[in-house]
Amino acid sequence: MTGPKLFEPITIGDLTLANRIVIAPMCQYSAVDGCMTDWHLIHLGHLALSGAALLTIEATAVLPEGRISYRDVGLYDDATEAAIARTIEGVRRHSPMPIAIQLGHAGRKASTDLPWLGGGQIPPSAGHGWQTEAPSALGFAATDNAPVALDHAGLKRVRDAFADAARRAARLGIDAVQLHGAHGYLLHQFLSPLSNRRTDDYGGSLENRMRFPLEVFDAVRQVFPAAKPVTMRVSGTDWVAGGWDSAQTVAFAQALEARGCSSIHVSSGGLDPRQDIPIGPSYQVPLARAVKQAVGMPVIAVGLITEPEQAEAIVGTGDADLIALARAILYDPRWPWHAAARLGAQVTAPNQYLRSQPREYKDLLRPSS
Ligand SMILES: Cc1cc2nc3c(=O)[nH]c(=O)nc-3n(C[C@H](O)[C@H](O)[C@H](O)COP(=O)(O)O)c2cc1C
Repeated sequence: MTGPKLFEPITIGDLTLANRIVIAPMCQYSAVDGCMTDWHLIHLGHLALSGAALLTIEATAVLPEGRISYRDVGLYDDATEAAIARTIEGVRRHSPMPIAIQLGHAGRKASTDLPWLGGGQIPPSAGHGWQTEAPSALGFAATDNAPVALDHAGLKRVRDAFADAARRAARLGIDAVQLHGAHGYLLHQFLSPLSNRRTDDYGGSLENRMRFPLEVFDAVRQVFPAAKPVTMRVSGTDWVAGGWDSAQTVAFAQALEARGCSSIHVSSGGLDPRQDIPIGPSYQVPLARAVKQAVGMPVIAVGLITEPEQAEAIVGTGDADLIALARAILYDPRWPWHAAARLGAQVTAPNQYLRSQPREYKDLLRPSS
């Protein structure tokens, strides 16, 4: 009898993952001037003991003005790099889990308040606010202070910032980079015809709209160690008629794969307030499946995947190669242990916790060293 596919190892680039469970990036809004704090050591530290295969650090801004909020993590100077170094040194001392970082720029969705304070845009005239930038001078909400359209010098500045952040990530020994091309942030703003109204080489046709995200990918791929994965997170659709959709996502995935992209993570939405999302269990999996059928690189599905049997069905039927969890693993940071117990598999656990193994699961927990 073969074991569950969810607990089979998989290789992405030169990185071998112990199973198919990825911890999705999750903003914590707990940084100070872009620098990770003790919260990040606690938060990432406890998730690193979960038995998942890969820990993804939250959306990390490549420029200060690319932060979603004034409490976002950045990787744009020596201080922000040192803060991440301190955090991952602590995490790594106690967990063998590989660590990826999501590098991003929020574009027109930058300069917002914290979600628990309402999350609205903060105008440049108010404390903690700044002028946003985007492909075109179109705000996310009609009431937003409009972004400034990036000129060619601005595009170069942003592209170089992605490459600089990737160099810093390499110096930190981070195992993989994920570029944030989803949820209506800057790279997605270039992709979608709803937010990109440019008339130069970076707007109009699909080829032109993909140009800047692909240039950013190339710039990052060039500086990040060749053996380590550079991956992309995309929104598979805007859920708005006339917007970015599944067919364009497939074309983008194929273009990325041709340039050496190691894996693609398919989410959705976030670009336009008119989005009409059919929310329910596995609601984004069909978007991942469409990409999976068109590329050879590993595909990650995400979104309301909460049950072990549901996750096993997604990877077992080949809709995707891996699944990612966000809310479910915040709610239950031992989700992979419980899934392994339910499906009859094994997970690596810290030696200090081995005695917690319930009597009925004799081989559930594997020592970490
Ligand atoms: C607290 C929180 C923070 C998030 N931050 C990010 C982020 O930094 N980058 C990102 O791409 N998605 C972010 N997301 C979206 C998740 O990664 C995930 O795609 C989404 O929550 C759907 O998965 P789920 O149903 O397992 O929660 C966040 C979600 C949550 C709940």
